[in-house]
Order: sequence, then structure tokens, then C-alpha cells
Amino acid sequence: RLGGGPGAKQVKRGLGRSRTPKALAIRQMTRRLTRLGDGMPLHDPLAVAVAFDPSLVRVESARVEVETRGEHTSGMTVVDRRTRRGRASANGGVDVARAVDVDRMLNLFVERVLVEATDPRLAPSREPAVAVIGGANVDFTVPVPHLPKPGETVTGSDLVTAFGGKGANQAVAARRAGAAVSFIGKLGRDVQGERYAEALRHEGVDLGGLLWDETRPSGVALIATGDRGQNQIVVGPGANATLRASELEALPAILAAARVLVAPLESPLPAVQHALVMAKRAGLTTVLNPAPAPARSLPRGLVKAVDVLVPNETEAASLVGHAISTIRQARAATRTLSEMGYASVVITLGERGVVWRHGEQTKRLGGHTVRARDATGAGDTFVGYLATALAQGAGLGDAVRLANAAAALSVTKLGAQAAIPPREKAERFARRFTR
Ligand code: RIB
Repeated sequence: RLGGGPGAKQVKRGLGRSRTPKALAIRQMTRRLTRLGDGMPLHDPLAVAVAFDPSLVRVESARVEVETRGEHTSGMTVVDRRTRRGRASANGGVDVARAVDVDRMLNLFVERVLVEATDPRLAPSREPAVAVIGGANVDFTVPVPHLPKPGETVTGSDLVTAFGGKGANQAVAARRAGAAVSFIGKLGRDVQGERYAEALRHEGVDLGGLLWDETRPSGVALIATGDRGQNQIVVGPGANATLRASELEALPAILAAARVLVAPLESPLPAVQHALVMAKRAGLTTVLNPAPAPARSLPRGLVKAVDVLVPNETEAASLVGHAISTIRQARAATRTLSEMGYASVVITLGERGVVWRHGEQTKRLGGHTVRARDATGAGDTFVGYLATALAQGAGLGDAVRLANAAAALSVTKLGAQAAIPPREKAERFARRFTR
């Protein structure tokens, strides 16, 4: 055990004032344990330490079995010390550690874990950090003269294949807006998945929270884009659908280095809720983009963990239960949503701009007039830019202004991630319209 008294001091002293991602994560992980007084068990670190320095423990040879049938003992490891030393049997001759050189083990732990954790070369970048938990899809897009009606076949232009998915789009948008970004999600272990991970890495997105599904394929989206930029999207979730709360092991470390957590709803709700609750507890600002619109109302525990809700008009309508076709209805919806418990609400209305509510005030910002080519990913661009501006300390109004400009620009190009503008361009565009 790294003892509650001296051990805790050792950790504290070892970490000093370091703010590397590892130091922050260790501080967060050990805070409660070291306060308990009886310290923190180091079983797993000991096993690793013995693998490279067996002299840390004194061993005895014994026969070892795992009980598989006992009514009260099923799963227990049974060490039969009566067996004579080294006697050959299926599980005989196993080295069982009977004593540990505690001082040497603790020193080694402190030296290896804490010293590396505080290495200033691993200090977090000065960019504020945004973490995104969400889906990643491969988008198959066909531009068409008009969107097909049910049963209709429409011939369009050639297929364009690109990377998409709301979560990954938002991660890329936050990155291009200037944040250090971590993406938490799942890809299939297939060619598309491997290529996608490479593209995100190339974009500078941290993939410490990326998981792989060995059986389901990577998520896909089949997209038709009409002549005025409107679209129809069908998603085959694949690996995105298997993300579980229990496998988000990297989450504490990611949250320790982040200021804002963003979550769309293309990942299973329990995983999203878990991440939002953890983020809220860790003092982050949390942004929920309820897209695609949830089929039923969201759990109370999730609502309480959200600081800023960012739906488009369709998603807001499904949350409040009435259509939103006028600005007045959008304003009313922000009030209803804040009564439901969302601290701040930002409803995006496409070319009609944005309506948002913070505290008791509802405000509106008009849309930008652009030549719309493809609206796919415009909402994601908005969310990624908004999150970055908030992480950089902007107020909600300024964050909305920048996000609105970036989203308008993204509509002028085909594709989701390909159309996300760089920060300077979005700022220049926003300035032109706020003079
Ligand atoms: O928001 C746009 C995204 O929705 C597309 O990239 C597609 O993958 C779907 O998830």
C-alpha cells in the first residue's frame, strides 16, 4: 500500500506543482484514496514491477489452482502450500510472492511513475483543451438535383467518400478553431477505421480515448445533398453503437486536462451520460448537442450534468414537443428548455441565425447570407467552435458569434470535415458582420 500518511505525502511531494496531463490525472485519481488514511493498494503496479525486477519479492513454490466449482469459493485462487517444492504437476511449481521489499517497491513506483509524470516536456500545451465523446462515420455523399421522395430514385453526381460522424466532426472543428482536442469514441477494426484514426492523428486530435471494435464495422453515413445544400442522412452506426461507459478508462485523465466536454448523441446514452456526469464533477463546462434528436426524453441525471444545450430547430422541437417554425417559437423553446433544467440553451436555425438563452435573457443573432452548397456538418462546426471559444474563456454571446460565422462558411463547401474553416477565416468573416 502507498500509505495514507507518508505515502500520500510522497505522492504530493513527487507531483509538486506539475500540471502535465499525467500529473493532473494522478492527482485526481489519488485524491480520495490518499485521504482515506489507510492508503492505496498497489497490487497491479507490484505485478509490473516484479516482471522487470523479480528481486523485489521473496517467492515460494506452490501448487496454484483457480476454483471453478465451489458453491462459496467459485473464482478463488487456491494456493496449496502442502505440495512439495517444485513438484511437477499441471499447476505446480508456481512462484507465489510471500514477502515484498516495501521500501524499494515504493521508491521505484515514485521514481518511475511520478518522475515521468512531472516531466515538463510532457506539460499540456497552452491551448485550452476540449474533449469530445461521440461518433465517427465514413460519409458516402452523392450530390443530387433534388432530395428523393419515398420510393423515388434520383440520379446525382459521382460518389464522394470522406470522414464524418458528429463527434469526430466536432473534434476536428474544435481543433481548427485552435483547441487541443481529445476524441473519445469507437471505430471498427477495418481498413476504413484504421484510415480514419490516421486522419484524426494527422489533424492533431489526441486519440488516447479511442477504442476499437473487433467485430462491428466502422460507422457509415449515406448522404444525399440537394441543390440548395439541404441533405438527407442515413446512419449505420456499426462500432459507434458498442461504446460502453465501463470501458472509458482514459476518461479521468482526459477530463483532467480539459476545460470543456462536448457530447452529441451518436454514442449510446449510458456512455454519454457517464462522461457528462464525470466532467461536471471534475469542474468542466459541458456541452450537449442532442443530435440526432433523441427518441424519448433524456434522463434527469443527464440533463443536470449539462451546462450548455445546443440543438438545431428539429432537435429542439422534439425536446419541447412542439414545432419550431418561427423565431417566436424558438424563443419560447429556449424558455421551456431552461425550465426543464438546461442552464444555457443555444438553438441554431440555419440561415435564420441563432436564438440563445442564458440566465433570464433570450437573445437572437441573425444568420449570414452565403451560397449554400452542403449543410452537412454545419451544426458540428458550430458546436466545435462554440466549445473552443468557451474553453478560451469567451462569454456565451461572443462564442455564439464566432460559431455562427464558422458554421455559415462551412455550408459553402461540400462535405463535413473538408468544409470546416480555419480559425483566422472564421474570425475575419465574423468581424465583417459585427462592425
Ligand atoms: O452532422 C453531420 C454528420 O451526421 C455526418 O458527417 C454524418 O456522418 C452524420 O453523422
